[in-house]
Amino acid sequence: MDALLNRLKQQEDVVKELEAQLFDRPEFKDNRKLEELRVENEKLNYRANILVRNIEDLKKQKPQENVAGTKQDDNKDKKEATKKKQTETKQGDSKNNKHQSHAKPTEPNQNDNKNKKTATATTVAPIKTYFTAGAQGDSEHSYRILDTLVGLFEQAIRKAFPEDPTLPVLVVPGKQTDYQCNSAMSIAQKLTAAGKKIIPTDVAKIITEHLPAHEIIGKIEYSGPGFINITIAAAFVCEQVRKILLKGVLPPDVLELVGNHETQTKKKNARVVIDFSSPNIAKEMHVGHLRSTIIGDSLARLLEYVGFDVLRLNHLGDWGTQFGMLIAHMQDIYPEYKTKSPPISDLLSFYKASKQRFDSEPEFKQRAYECVVKLQAFDPDIIHAWKLICDVSRQDFEYIYKELDVKIIDRGESFYQNRMLDVVKQLDSKNLLKLEDGRKVMFLPDIDVPMTIVKTDGSFTYDTSDMATIQQRLMEENADWIIYVIDSGQALHMQSVFAGAKLAGWTEGKNVRIDHVGFGVVLGDDSKKLKTRAGEAIRLRDLLHEGIERSMAKLKEKDRHNVLTPEELVKAQKSVAYGCIKYADLSHNRNSDYIFSFDRMLDDRGNTAAYLLYAYTRIRSIARTAGVDHAVLKSMAQDIELNFDSEERELKLAKCIVKYPDVLTRVLDELLMHGLCEYMYQLATSFTEFYDRHYCVEKDKTTGEVRLNYRRILLCEATANVLKQCFEILGIQALERM
Ligand code: ARG
Repeated sequence: MDALLNRLKQQEDVVKELEAQLFDRPEFKDNRKLEELRVENEKLNYRANILVRNIEDLKKQKPQENVAGTKQDDNKDKKEATKKKQTETKQGDSKNNKHQSHAKPTEPNQNDNKNKKTATATTVAPIKTYFTAGAQGDSEHSYRILDTLVGLFEQAIRKAFPEDPTLPVLVVPGKQTDYQCNSAMSIAQKLTAAGKKIIPTDVAKIITEHLPAHEIIGKIEYSGPGFINITIAAAFVCEQVRKILLKGVLPPDVLELVGNHETQTKKKNARVVIDFSSPNIAKEMHVGHLRSTIIGDSLARLLEYVGFDVLRLNHLGDWGTQFGMLIAHMQDIYPEYKTKSPPISDLLSFYKASKQRFDSEPEFKQRAYECVVKLQAFDPDIIHAWKLICDVSRQDFEYIYKELDVKIIDRGESFYQNRMLDVVKQLDSKNLLKLEDGRKVMFLPDIDVPMTIVKTDGSFTYDTSDMATIQQRLMEENADWIIYVIDSGQALHMQSVFAGAKLAGWTEGKNVRIDHVGFGVVLGDDSKKLKTRAGEAIRLRDLLHEGIERSMAKLKEKDRHNVLTPEELVKAQKSVAYGCIKYADLSHNRNSDYIFSFDRMLDDRGNTAAYLLYAYTRIRSIARTAGVDHAVLKSMAQDIELNFDSEERELKLAKCIVKYPDVLTRVLDELLMHGLCEYMYQLATSFTEFYDRHYCVEKDKTTGEVRLNYRRILLCEATANVLKQCFEILGIQALERM
């Protein structure tokens, strides 16, 4: 498999190289045939990408070692243990296995079977997803086609084979066809095993006979041994496109998703707490935090868009031992700190200096420890010094958040100091803490390494603080859903905290979903951890600046500075730079490590933000050239006959547009953003295919008369609206002109 993967990757490079050499040659400019080949090539690239990703995903499913670096030192022994034993890095519940296909549960109690292994494809009962009812949409929600089909096929299968209510309902988006029901094979196997001999093709026929008539189903066909191919009705597709034009790009109704698999209740304004970004004070915010920031922000945007009440929390590392030495150092070099701002604008070198003293001056070390004790006892002077230090760091972080347009509320580790005292008391009273070599530890079911809750010197650890975060979020915030966006290196830590909360009884009687959204390491072009040439960790600020410079160079290369106004140019510069950085991160499966390469992300061919942003402006320019504005288009959408079924490429694009709610539902289920990026790319390619073939604005060569095809212009408008909403979810600023 590795060999195959390597070959695919090599071929991709070769193709890229050829493309670069060929397509940019001036004699090929405006060559229609070549343009078509390019589109074809892009599609092939796209497929190759999917293949590569599938292979990578398959590899992921195998036991693997944990690669990402983790935080705190108090977790060292735990990390060692992880390496030795770990076979599964994620939260240990059934979620890990879900979503081989989007399907309904077939065994009423399967959700209780925590930690069960996935069985082989043909016999496994699909795992329940978080989303079930409410698929049909209403005046405020869009229509989930896949879930509706799942519902219809479930009805049919239960009616056709009432003897076994656990028969699997497998409906998936199809490759050759719109959707596919793949249940027949396993149903035939199950029934035959139970003594009722039947072949898959017969099962398929019986299922379809019991299928209720429905507006979304256009055509049913059979293929292979019992596969049922479903074509969506064109009239239905057209009406959904009309709805987008009239009502806007509505979210799917997924609020009933809250819950822990076992029960699902619908709740308005369900509350989600999402912990992301979370850099450490006095230390540089690094690319790992960049990933958490980008992934967390886009998840939060998505959750807000579908209607959750979202609390975005920045769990700043603003407490603990390093503050002792920072404060002690400040007291020495700047005793007047209480009245004047201290010169610590370069906090990093300040940190280094204090660390050096800490390691070499015993007297200083002693005083640093005393400062920690005083800090944790909230001594006013020490707290004052601590605040000054935090403020300096925060300014730095704020710059990054402002540039990236990320909103987040600071609630650092310090917030939990008193709550940690309380957590220890509670755990003690429940007899959950054991004394081991002077430490208070908490053992957890099925996890080898216990959490350290109180250290020998009486201080708390990263474990303690996260036991406090989860308790606070469950009990005080009353969260229905809690998400931690932290690198995969901390998977065992998270797993322990989740198990700890359960053991402490804090989740009892609560219908809450809890996720660790992990992610891989950021690598440089050389596939090693991203570093500067000098081998130092890259500063985020510098990285963003480089992006800004490079994006301007790219825009100038394309002569945009002669087309756009200076303001538009600056806007485009930021949109492209940050859009590309974000998209490069989000378009890869977050579980994998990802290679950071400006060259690749700024390339406007292939699945990049640069490509999509240009595609978007191109679509927007169509209505502009035609001279019709949004309002006119909207009123037109009311009564125009919107049948896209006569032209294959129109219908294909329209179908892609209406798949949008399915895509979002799946992303919310798995919390994997690359699904949305793949969809955007698909949408843009379907658009190009359509636009290459069909005129929207046609000029008669002899009379000069301009004819507008409104149906097609409306299709463009709907495409652009959906793309725009996707950009918004990803936190990317899409521009009308670029
Ligand atoms: N500050 C930590 C780090 O840099 C991340 C904190 C994530 N949030 C949490 N609740 N543990 O690794």
